Amino acid sequence: MKKIINDYANYTVPFYGPADFVVKKAKGSYVWDTNNNKYIDFTAGIAVTNLGHSNSELTKILNQQSKNVWHLSNLYINEHAVQLSKKLCQKTFADKVFFCNSGAESIEAAVKTARKYTSKKFKKDKNEIISFSSSFHGRTMLGIALAKAKNLIDGFAPLPKGIKNHPYNKIEGLEKLFSDKTSAVILELVQWQSGITKADQKFISKIKQLARKHKALIIIDEVQSGIGRTGTFFAYEQFNLVPDILCFAKGIANGFPLGGILTSNKIASAMTVGSHGTTFGGGPIACAIGSSVVDTISKKSFLQKVTKKEKIFINELDSISKKLGCIQSISSAGLWVSVEFNQGINIDNLIALAHTKGLMILKANINTVRFSPSLIIEDDLIKKGLGIFESSILALLKK
Ligand SMILES: Cc1ncc(COP(=O)(O)O)c(C=O)c1O
Repeated sequence: MKKIINDYANYTVPFYGPADFVVKKAKGSYVWDTNNNKYIDFTAGIAVTNLGHSNSELTKILNQQSKNVWHLSNLYINEHAVQLSKKLCQKTFADKVFFCNSGAESIEAAVKTARKYTSKKFKKDKNEIISFSSSFHGRTMLGIALAKAKNLIDGFAPLPKGIKNHPYNKIEGLEKLFSDKTSAVILELVQWQSGITKADQKFISKIKQLARKHKALIIIDEVQSGIGRTGTFFAYEQFNLVPDILCFAKGIANGFPLGGILTSNKIASAMTVGSHGTTFGGGPIACAIGSSVVDTISKKSFLQKVTKKEKIFINELDSISKKLGCIQSISSAGLWVSVEFNQGINIDNLIALAHTKGLMILKANINTVRFSPSLIIEDDLIKKGLGIFESSILALLKK
């Protein structure tokens, strides 16, 4: 294991600071390293493997499709992309779908589509985008320009222009940002960078009102909140809001790269052949898997279980919080949970300790951890994992 870790340090651009073990295999909500240590996975590849690692049904589909056709290009129609598009439209507000490979690319496609639509339909310079603080929209130049956080943009100027950033959930001053040049507002209905934070309904109502008044579009980034994560297939279903464009990725093909946007016929009609495209997006393997993921996760009975499991997390965490007294707040949106600690708890050390005890968890920020387990994690595994979480905190407090 040490040799691989050394080679990793020697041969990869240091964009990441990975855990100090090497993963050999994973099944359901368990992961094993090359020394056969077993971990309970509360990360699911950062909200991606929603139906568990190496899901048997999806593995079967992947194997079968790999024998039929792997890749075609978008010059030819593959039936799985058509089938998945149809399912997504039938289950959401959308009439049309565009597929790409990742969340960041879905943001790119959404902003390009919005700008094309508003500049064609209204006026040429109707191209400004309003985004919000503490957001995350990926690591492309556009994504970091939208988030506008110092740690993301430092050293990467010049960034794409025409973006105005406003504090999240703050109504005051928002109106001033809108004008006849506003093309779209982009936001996450549930943010994670400051711990799990939902958009206030009043904030959403104001955005809806201002967007209507200024003929601007609403783009919802559901790259992480989508595909059952928050207890509905998409989070917008809980917010009295119909997006003009929705971005999705992560869980849609359970870890096989796939992303995309959903939109209406009206907006899609602004895009014509050659306006946008991708080599890999919407490939037959990804879409065959995605089709099955949508069938499973969109079922009401499945989504109800997500909410039930969220309650187990919250009840267990409440009792840990009462016992230990070092937890500042707990928040959740479905199986997306964050735990904020009082000052003095080093999150990096806590995560490293959890690893040594067999639990994988994520950092949200300097004092907050985040869980995004598979949506099928067994109830007793949630309790077992939280037992490890508690003992890791205790061990850290004793240090
Ligand atoms: C809300 C949101 N948008 C966009 C992205 C970017 O997605 P990707 O990493 O697939 O490019 C992420 C990734 O974490 C995300 O959480």
